[in-house]
Amino acid sequence: MSVILETRQISKAFGGLQAVHNLSFRVQQGEITGLIGPNGAGKTTVFNLVMGTLKPDQGRIHFKDRDITGRKTYQIVDLGIARAFQIAQCCPGKTIFENLELCACSNRLFSRSKYPSAPILQAAEQAGLTSELEKLPGMLPQAGLRRLEIARAVATSPDLLLLDEPFAGLTSGEIGALSRMIQELRDQGMTIVLVDHNVRSVMRLVDRVLVMSFGQLIADGSPGKIVADPMVQQAYLGTDHV
Ligand SMILES: Nc1ncnc2c1ncn2[C@@H]1O[C@H](COP(=O)(O)OP(=O)(O)OP(=O)(O)O)[C@@H](O)[C@H]1O
Ligand SMILES: [Mg+2]
Repeated sequence: MSVILETRQISKAFGGLQAVHNLSFRVQQGEITGLIGPNGAGKTTVFNLVMGTLKPDQGRIHFKDRDITGRKTYQIVDLGIARAFQIAQCCPGKTIFENLELCACSNRLFSRSKYPSAPILQAAEQAGLTSELEKLPGMLPQAGLRRLEIARAVATSPDLLLLDEPFAGLTSGEIGALSRMIQELRDQGMTIVLVDHNVRSVMRLVDRVLVMSFGQLIADGSPGKIVADPMVQQAYLGTDHV
C-alpha cells in the first residue's frame, strides 16, 4: 500500500495560539482514515493547510510524492484533493445540477478537454441526487444538503477527499446511509479522511484512526487499538462521545 498524503512536522499558529504543532502523519492510498479529537484540537486547520487555504508556518505537505506546500487551492484541486465543509457551501440560486457543474468545470483538467458530463452525473448518482437535479438546494432536507456538499467535492474527480463533520446534525438512519455512500466512494478508488465527533460511526467506517489533541498527534492506529488507548481515553473518549 502506498502513502498518498504526508505531512512532515507542520505547524500553524494564530497569534499566540498554536493550532497545529509539529504534526506528522501519513494517509494510505485507498483507505478511510478517521481524524478525531476534542473541539479546537486543530482538525479543520489541518484540512485548511492541506487545501492551501492556509500556509503552514513550518513543515511540508506531500501529495502523491509531490511537495504541495504553499500551492494555491485551485492547483491543489487540480492535483486531485477536494474537501467538503461541515456547512454546505453551495450556490443557493443555482440548481443542484448547476452546482455540480460549477465544481466539475473548476477542475482545469476537464475544461481543457471536454464538457465534464460524466463526473457531474456520477457524483449526482453516488449522492442519490439524480432525480433532484433541477431542484434548488434549498428544497433538500438537511441530509440531502450534506450529500450535495460531498457530491460537489466528488464532482471535481478527486483522488483524496477530505470530509469535515459530515455526520453532524443527522439522524442515525441518515448517518448509516451517508456511511454507505462514503464506503462506495472508497470502493471505487477514492482515499478519504473523515473528521467527525460521532466517534462510534467513525470507528465503524474507518481503516485507521489519527487522534489529535492541542495541535499534536497523540495516537495513530486501528479503531480497536485507539478505543483501548488510555491517553486517547483521557484526552477525548473519556467524555460522552462514545
Ligand atoms: N482563522 C483563525 N484565526 C484564529 N484562530 C483560529 C482560526 N482557525 C482556527 N483557530 C483556532 O485554532 C484552534 C484549532 O481550531 P480548529 O478549527 O482547527 O479545531 P477543530 O479540531 O476543527 O475543532 P472542532 O472539532 O470544534 O471543529 C482553535 O483554538 C481555534 O479557535
Ligand atoms: Mg473543525
